[in-house]
Amino acid sequence: MSSQPIGVFDSGLGGLTAVKQLQKVLPNENIVYFGDTGRVPYGNRSTDIIKKYALQDTAFLISKNVKLVIAACGTVSSVLPNLSDETDVPYTGVLMPTALAAVKATHNGKIGVIGTTATVKSRSYERHIHSIDSRIEVFQQDCPLFVPLVENGFIKRDDPIPRMAAERYLAGLKDIGVDTLILGCTHYPILMDIISDYMGENVKLINSGRETALYAAELLNKSGMLNTQNAKGTYEYYVSDCVETFSSVARVFLGSEIEHNVQRLDIEQFIADMGQNT
Ligand code: DGL
Repeated sequence: MSSQPIGVFDSGLGGLTAVKQLQKVLPNENIVYFGDTGRVPYGNRSTDIIKKYALQDTAFLISKNVKLVIAACGTVSSVLPNLSDETDVPYTGVLMPTALAAVKATHNGKIGVIGTTATVKSRSYERHIHSIDSRIEVFQQDCPLFVPLVENGFIKRDDPIPRMAAERYLAGLKDIGVDTLILGCTHYPILMDIISDYMGENVKLINSGRETALYAAELLNKSGMLNTQNAKGTYEYYVSDCVETFSSVARVFLGSEIEHNVQRLDIEQFIADMGQNT
């Protein structure tokens, strides 16, 4: 049993889709979230920069005494699939649990993957799926407009702007006939209805946040680190840019009011101070 919090980070708000699932699956767990809203997006940056940011985000969460770090970011998880080798606490990204869920879900052996440009370029999902079942065909598509649409609140099901973007990005995957579609970026579940309307009800959408929350629960359970307290968990949120913007959009992600426990964190300054104190 451990009452230490679970640490979750993302480049921005997308990781909150994983937090929402964690809150459902593990309601007693305390959670510390860091959204790097001052440096979002990560998805069009180089591997070196993504690694630098991911290690800084992780260092901040470790300073909060977390028992598990979750990179709730498809980009970090795909570009740096071995980041666990460089962290001092248990760590998981979204890649492995999500790929496994997709392999289990497909009937026709055609899986689509949508994600940021960096995620698609890394081909990590393809590799991981083939390591489980080499007969599966994997088709990828990057959707670079989805993250800014979500971060700026263009998320209503009947809004023609995200609907047009979905049609443009997903037409090829629909024509190919994938029966399973991995939402390889944690921002995308917010556009789930729009994506589902376009792909049709027969295409199973895999939410990486949900699969990762289920995996985290299993991991903590197996290692005896679940928080068995009866009280509801507490949540702390940190962002590297405007608290107000985060609060208003985050309400949509989490479906609840979180204004009172959001704090601004200057991540570069935090890392500089850490260096001076060591
Ligand atoms: N939520 C991040 C992901 O899953 C957003 C990507 C970005 O920052 O570009 O990839």
